[in-house]
Amino acid sequence: MEEIVSKKRMLSGIKPSGDLTLGSYLGAVKNWAERADQYECFYFMADLHAITVRQNPADLRRRTLEQLAQYIACGLDPEKNTLFIQSHIHQHAELGWILDCYSMFGELSRMTQFKDKSAKNEENINAGLFTYPSLMAADILLYQPDLVPVGEDQKQHVELTHVIARRFNGIYGEVFKIPEPFVPKVGARIMSLTNPTAKMSKSENEDTGRVLLMDPPEVIMKQFKRAITDSDTENCVRYDKVNKPGVANLMTIYSAVTGKTYEEIENEFIGCGYGKFKPMVGEAVVEHLRPIREEAQRLMKDKAYLESVYRDGAEKASYVAEKTLRKVYKKVGFVAK
Ligand code: TYM
Repeated sequence: MEEIVSKKRMLSGIKPSGDLTLGSYLGAVKNWAERADQYECFYFMADLHAITVRQNPADLRRRTLEQLAQYIACGLDPEKNTLFIQSHIHQHAELGWILDCYSMFGELSRMTQFKDKSAKNEENINAGLFTYPSLMAADILLYQPDLVPVGEDQKQHVELTHVIARRFNGIYGEVFKIPEPFVPKVGARIMSLTNPTAKMSKSENEDTGRVLLMDPPEVIMKQFKRAITDSDTENCVRYDKVNKPGVANLMTIYSAVTGKTYEEIENEFIGCGYGKFKPMVGEAVVEHLRPIREEAQRLMKDKAYLESVYRDGAEKASYVAEKTLRKVYKKVGFVAK
């Protein structure tokens, strides 16, 4: 008899709080797509998380659909991956509340992202911003995944998910699978092109050195040409993250889109100054992103198709989520409906 080996499960999400950047692509989506055949995958648009910072409703709706089109254009085939919108699965908010009751004030206060975001949004330090990691733990634990692929900045939240899940399992038995974060070797932290000590962020404006997945070639080239390199006199392409963070960031981007190692890149650019290196990185990025941009633009015109994808996704996701939530309700002592 043929043995049925079930695939391991993978889950991740992105907030549609801004347009996808080269950072979110290299740190997250590209790695998801590369593993879609080996895992049973769940990917979502984290719209519940997006409203922890005030959003324009029309923009949020548009970006959520664009993000879905971009996921598919990046290679996440809806036939093989479950793609869904977080707010369509009510179980996220429900488990989020329960996990709030198993997350400690001190733990949430120590989250780097909470500290950063509250410093940037002094006028709106809302409770959602604070309890965000419990909702993220719910997003993950509902689906019992083995692996959660994220960029470096989200690793702390996945680690807190471990703590919350272990605490819950410690009281009620093995309810949640303990997932592992998966952080890529190259591209886990893409920095701003104009400030290589700050992460490239989707929530900030063009002048902050970000490249968007949907930027046209001339905009991408402009951003790379004005990228900050380093103030050393060496003017030579060499990987040194501490002393040459700007060049190291450009090398990371080039490596991620071409598959070349840092050593190969150093050899390729021997004798070339930064002036030649920067547009070459820009061109490699333009060519890498071109098919993604074109396919996403085509998909955005097909609203009926996108709707069928997120509806199918919601159906599959809610089946799995409901199973976990029912178990949790029973464990904590809620009366069955
Ligand atoms: P978000 O939307 O800030 O980022 C989405 C993903 O992209 C990665 N990323 C980067 N990687 C490398 N360099 C960068 N400059 C860069 N910027 C972003 C992030 O690490 C992340 O993997 N809370 C999450 C969304 C979320 C989630 C989840 C993720 C909600 N629930 C459950 C995993 C599992 C967030 O805000 O990511």
